This record gives sequence, C-alpha cells and structure tokens, in this order.
Amino acid sequence: MRKRMRIRWGRVLTLIAFLMIIVGGTIMYRENILKDKENATKKEEPSLNEEKENESNLSNQANVDLERAPSNHRDFQALEDGKYLTDNGYTLVIENGVASVDGHLIVNKTYSVPEDYLPKDPWEAVTLERCINCLEKEVMSAFQLMRGDATSIGLNIYIASGYRGYTYQEKLYNNYSAVSGIEKADTYSARPGHSEHQTGLCFDLNSVEDSFASTDEGKWIQENAYLYGFVIRYPKGKEDITGYQYESWHLRYVGEELAEELYNQGDWITLEEYYGISSSY
Ligand code: DAL
Ligand code: ZN
Repeated sequence: MRKRMRIRWGRVLTLIAFLMIIVGGTIMYRENILKDKENATKKEEPSLNEEKENESNLSNQANVDLERAPSNHRDFQALEDGKYLTDNGYTLVIENGVASVDGHLIVNKTYSVPEDYLPKDPWEAVTLERCINCLEKEVMSAFQLMRGDATSIGLNIYIASGYRGYTYQEKLYNNYSAVSGIEKADTYSARPGHSEHQTGLCFDLNSVEDSFASTDEGKWIQENAYLYGFVIRYPKGKEDITGYQYESWHLRYVGEELAEELYNQGDWITLEEYYGISSSY
C-alpha cells in the first residue's frame, strides 16, 4: 500500500514539473512575440518629435523658394502678384494688387489697395464717396450685434465714419497735410489707397477724439470689441509699429478667432506684429 502511494506521488510531481515547463515556455514565447510586435509598431509610427521635425521641414520646403515680403511701400509696388514670406514665417498673398495673410486683407503704409478697390459684399451698394452702410455685410452684422449689447447696458455706440472711397480719402489727406504738414498728417491720416476705410472692413466710432478712450463707451469697446470680431487697429504704445497714433475709435473687423488672439488680455497685438509684416511708406 505504502509503495503504491510513493509511486503515485512520484507521478504527480513529474506531471506538475512537466506542466510548469509547458506553461512557462508558452508565457515566454508570447512575451517575445508581443515585444517583437511593439518594436515593429515603433518603427512604423514616427515619434511626435520626428513628426514635428518632418512638418517643419515640409513647411520650410514650401517656403524655401518664397521671396521675402516687402519692407516698405516702394518695395510692395515693385512686386508682382504671388506669394511672399513674412518675417514670422506666414505666407503673404498678393492677388490683383491686394495683399492678405491667412485670408485677412492687409492695408497699412506698406500695403495699399488699387484706386478702384470696392468692398466685396457690401451691405448697401457703393454709390457715394463715403457711406456708412456700404461696409461688408459681415462687418455690419457684427457691429449691430455689438451695438445691441452695448445699448442693453445703457451705452450708445454708433458709426461716425464707415466706407470712404479713394478720392474722398485723397481729399481728406490733402487737407490734413496742408494744415499739419506731411510728416504730422502721416501719423493720423492714411494716404489714398492706404486707408482701411476703403475696404469696408473698418469704421470709426462716436467721436474721433482722444477723449473717446476715457468715455464709458470707449472703455467698454476696449475690453469687449474682440468678442464681436473687432480689433483696436492702432493701439496705444504701438505707434512705431503701425505708423499711426493711438485711435481708440477705429475698429477693424478680423473675425472672432483672430480678434481674441490680438486682444491678448487687453495688451493688443497689432496685425503687423502678429504676422511679421511692415507698415512703412
Ligand atoms: N486714420 C486712419 C489711419 C485712416 O485714415 O485710415
Ligand atoms: Zn478710421
């Protein structure tokens, strides 16, 4: 009886050892297969850094042949329609003599629009030299929304100057430069073709006076205009960049997304800084 029990225990132990070898071997085999698979996937999928490197190589390649964007108006006049590289690596497109970056039309001292340029989709057709309702439809809608909200808290904002044609701007600028001299006039009035007012994308609010900034309306505009897609186009402290004195009343429509970027918690960034473009005659 005892002898038979010993034989049985021996068999059981042998069986257990056998099973352990089989199970252990299977686990090791599966682990190796998984490791191989992992390595293979790693080789196929580039790391995030590799991806970024490739992306930047691609964008450099795309921009590698682009000429630099102009640094003043004389250079701009010498350029043909095409694509140019800005100082911040954006692509500036010139089409029919009109410059834009990321679909945003650029008008400043460097960039002008042709004499016959008109708003693309005006609220009201342009028939006069100056016209408040001839702003782009999108701009008028955004203004009406902003005006409604301002009215609901007891503020009164209205457009004092909207679209201004080339010839009207020419008369304005000539008058100002006759009174103040060219150098001074250039700090507050755009030369014909260089005014955003010709594009139907901007307007002047209420009073074109420095005091507007300290009115309740001026303060509200400074903090809220970006919510409706507007930027203070010529901010305080950025005179050397825009080429113009601070104009708390001149709002340019750029859409909500870009306006929020440029608002920058109240420390306005100019289009010139953001895109790396110049504003100089
Ligand atoms: N006051 C701005 C610069 C204009 O004349 O368009
Ligand atoms: Zn203006």
